[in-house]
Amino acid sequence: MRPLLVCAVVALCLAQVVLCVDRSNFKQCKDASFCSRLRATTPEADSYAVMRESLRFTKGKLTAEVLNEAEVSFSLEIVFPSTRADLIRVSLRESTPLVPRFEPNEALLDPVAARETASPEAVVLEEETDSVVVIALPQLGRKLRIVLDPLVVTLEDANGLALVALNSRNLLAFEHTRTKPVPEVVGGAGEGEDAAPTPQADQLKAEEAAGMWEESWKGTTDSKKHGPQGVALDIDFPAFKHVYGIPEHAAPFSLPDTTGDEARYSDPYRLYNLDVFEYELDNEMALYGAVPFMVAHSAAGSVGALWLNAAETFIDVTTLGGGGRGSRWMSETGVIDVFLMVGPAPADVLAQYAGLTGAAALPPVFSISYHQCRWNYRDEDDVRMVDAKFDEHNIPYDVLWLDIEHTDGKRYFTWDATKFPAPKAMIDGLAAKGRKMVTIIDPHIKRDNNYYVYRDASAAGHFIKDASGSEYDGFCWPGSSAWLDLVSPAVRDYWASLFAFDTYVGSTPTLFTWNDMNEPSVFNGPEITMKKDAIHFGGWEHRDVHNMYGMLFQRSTAAGQLARSGGKARPFVLTRSFFVSSQRDGAVWTGDNAAEWSHLEASVPMLLSHSIAGIPFIGADVGGFFGDVEPELLARWYQAGAFQPFFRAHGHLDTKRREPWLFGEPYTSIIRSAIRARYAYLPYLYTLFAEASRTLAPVMRPLWWHYPDHAPLFDRDSEFMLGRALLIAPATAPGVTSVTAYLPPGAWYDVRDFAMYQGGQLVPLDAPLESIPVLQAAGTIVPKKERARRNSAAMVLDPFTLVVALDAAGSARGELYLDDGASTDHAAGAWTSRHFSMASGMLTSTRAPGAPEYHTPEAIERIVVLGMPAPAAITLNGDSLSFTVDPTSGAVTIRKPDVLAIDDWTIVFA
Ligand code: NOJ
Repeated sequence: MRPLLVCAVVALCLAQVVLCVDRSNFKQCKDASFCSRLRATTPEADSYAVMRESLRFTKGKLTAEVLNEAEVSFSLEIVFPSTRADLIRVSLRESTPLVPRFEPNEALLDPVAARETASPEAVVLEEETDSVVVIALPQLGRKLRIVLDPLVVTLEDANGLALVALNSRNLLAFEHTRTKPVPEVVGGAGEGEDAAPTPQADQLKAEEAAGMWEESWKGTTDSKKHGPQGVALDIDFPAFKHVYGIPEHAAPFSLPDTTGDEARYSDPYRLYNLDVFEYELDNEMALYGAVPFMVAHSAAGSVGALWLNAAETFIDVTTLGGGGRGSRWMSETGVIDVFLMVGPAPADVLAQYAGLTGAAALPPVFSISYHQCRWNYRDEDDVRMVDAKFDEHNIPYDVLWLDIEHTDGKRYFTWDATKFPAPKAMIDGLAAKGRKMVTIIDPHIKRDNNYYVYRDASAAGHFIKDASGSEYDGFCWPGSSAWLDLVSPAVRDYWASLFAFDTYVGSTPTLFTWNDMNEPSVFNGPEITMKKDAIHFGGWEHRDVHNMYGMLFQRSTAAGQLARSGGKARPFVLTRSFFVSSQRDGAVWTGDNAAEWSHLEASVPMLLSHSIAGIPFIGADVGGFFGDVEPELLARWYQAGAFQPFFRAHGHLDTKRREPWLFGEPYTSIIRSAIRARYAYLPYLYTLFAEASRTLAPVMRPLWWHYPDHAPLFDRDSEFMLGRALLIAPATAPGVTSVTAYLPPGAWYDVRDFAMYQGGQLVPLDAPLESIPVLQAAGTIVPKKERARRNSAAMVLDPFTLVVALDAAGSARGELYLDDGASTDHAAGAWTSRHFSMASGMLTSTRAPGAPEYHTPEAIERIVVLGMPAPAAITLNGDSLSFTVDPTSGAVTIRKPDVLAIDDWTIVFA
């Protein structure tokens, strides 16, 4: 099927000038020697056995020596880095590597949780024989079974059902470090005679043929001075039919197979951060970021597996004999370091992952509002014009963005003196209206001794080196460029220092940052990135750290922003490249999509994949980056984007301008109301971000998140939930006037007219061009702010509306998180959270358990109750409240109940 599909795509590209990736620019598994070797490994090739006498179980930690058939020694370690033992770390390292093997720094893991160990009651040695060790995890009702020969580690539930199995298919492969064979010269080979083949010569020949010591691809040679260092392991989920995560790919949310009878793709999913020009949809190719974290789900629950490795990685996914799913992970270097999150609920898996890698940063409110970007707003007049037009058209926005053309010759931290002669005044002009700006800061540094960043960093030896030890010289936007070696803590500090107000001339406290091209993108490098034999701090090769470079860049940028305010203001940094733990540093977007309906459709599964892998602050360019957008598509994209976590319009330099008012009516009004809907839901959205900052629960959620045992939802990715309360069913095709959505069980209220639908089935919903279906789940309460303003800053004191959607029992509940929306004071306790709950005809507001007191003056101006018979009277403290009942929907609206959001109160419906 695959070759046919490729032909069809190529034909389409030629016939219709559809945007298509040049696949030949990027490697497949067969083009990477480590992947070819590891993928060809069969269960019979080798096996790894635990040396029984070496096995120790002390203080809840199991260690043992493992030997492969060549008698190479490895160290197995199984630890439980959380008090409840709901995280299991299984690592296998070479006992005496000839050169050190890279492990992503402990700084990646949450500094507190990673130091924790399970309490003795949580981890109990239950059985120990010559062939097996069983560790019980009584608090979780789980067991870890370790079979010794060959080594197999299985996480089982209380009934002995295998949830996750490591090496049960015996595909474990660990290429130990070795010296390059030197063929001996054997006597007897006189002049004219061939030297007699020696075992070493044969071995060298075989190793060279397998690309172990050097490999070339499209004219670039990768010198591999340390030889082969690949690691591979099968991680199977026998009890689960669906696996998700491992962003970033433009693939369905429920990941299709890459091997076996049901394979949809022929290559494994690739994790290798790359700048893929005009990426195609529905495939396994690598994109800009990598999170090697997979979540498996079934009606019985969820589990997760993190493969902590920053090198190039391929992952095969397959359907197992018994119907479960299998995965096989293959990385070029590093060690085997797997973390299992035991669940059982999806929220548990993400909370366990957060305990390890950190929860999400709480973003400032402006950053979850609407962003206006394009490549490029030309000059200061253009900026002022665009800003004024938003006001003229009564369209709210918070942030205006400047792409690379604002700089002096792509020297970041500088300004084009002709186009942007007075940046501070420009930024302050927007700030006077409560708006912010963002400038792009890329990692390629122009090699120009008159540019202070280059001069200082070069003099300090801060740049990555090439294999010969010279400063790495590559090509990017500014021409010849160098890249900061962010693996070095000192270089990260240096980078952060560049954001100080007196260093970044023209910057102000309302200027924030966009980190692009940080895979890193190197135009003349292999696969448009850095050569793998480039050298970093500590002597590590680029191949060891490639997938974490982008994360380090965003992290240092965010640190710089935090430092410039003396730690007082929350940073905002958008990044294109990301890795495990990037959730701690800001937002991510899906790079260069296209102005095509298919890309709008693909935004949902893509963003869900990031979300389930612990990256909640995620968005796709609204309108599509490449190509001119037709107005209907733009309108539909705004409608969907308004309900996605990061909401920014962006377009390529060569596209026609597409600000919201440029297409005339009805489009301007449609886009206005989509953006206004975003602003109206900001209190709800911000509450979800606050939740993600504690537990990493996604903001944008798959339908099954709250309905984990409802199997029809497991592969739905055309709709999504925003938190528990809202379901969004975007229109993603031209000309449609309705969409058919699968509504999870229970009742649902259309937020446009409060019409009620029964879920647990496919339901056709109206989707005229003017709006898309958004439904509120019965049983939820959603806080909103409904006054139309020019931006989020203007809404700070606005009163709230509560929309109470009752379930069949007449109950509902919801939450509202409150703080100042911008400073870091919340970390010191300046926040609160309110719980609203309705039951037995009483709506109450109470402080959420554990939330501190916090004063904020906003009142509640309106309460709308859906799904209740018209009441005779509504009272607050014995006083009657006035209300209306909508004759069509039956919605009961209380106007001006005159209560504060932060107060405790009870409203009684009689
Ligand atoms: C590539 C980014 O993905 C895109 O969003 C940006 O506009 C260009 N680089 C220019 O900076």
